[in-house]
Amino acid sequence: MLNAELLIKAIQASNDGIVISEQEGDDHILIYVNPAFERLTGYAADEILYQDCRFLQGNDREQAGVYSIRAALAQGQPVRTVLRNYRKDGSLFWNELSITPVYDEASELTYYIGIQKEVTREVALENEIERLRTELAAFRAAATS
Ligand SMILES: Cc1cc2nc3c(=O)[nH]c(=O)nc-3n(C[C@H](O)[C@H](O)[C@H](O)COP(=O)(O)O)c2cc1C
Repeated sequence: MLNAELLIKAIQASNDGIVISEQEGDDHILIYVNPAFERLTGYAADEILYQDCRFLQGNDREQAGVYSIRAALAQGQPVRTVLRNYRKDGSLFWNELSITPVYDEASELTYYIGIQKEVTREVALENEIERLRTELAAFRAAATS
């Protein structure tokens, strides 16, 4: 049987960000962030604990992914999406975020676990493929006309 100490070590060793939040009014405030989350965002845990993670969006709040998170949280449903987020130094990174509710029967409260994976490179490659596809289509159309 896996003991709690090993479980904590594994979460701390993870290469992806792992956070746990609890609900406070309309906010889901961070009660735990692992070292990979600190490295990814540039924020130290004590600067951001007890805040809602939306600070990572800066002023870039009109994102489809944010709407899908809001809808999922309102229904206590899991959600996976890709968002533009900003580090403490203001630099942009693409965040593939997976959020899942965790129901604690003892306290009758719903917590959420969030897993953050940086996909900046993958998004840049997808955009490049799309750009090349468009260019190729234009090239083919010109060649056949
Ligand atoms: C466990 C958890 C982790 C989250 N992690 C992130 C994150 O890494 N980046 C982000 O932009 N939003 C994250 N969010 C989403 C925001 O905290 C917020 O729920 C979202 O912006 C929608 O709510 P709002 O419209 O009130 O801002 C997370 C939410 C939860 C519950």
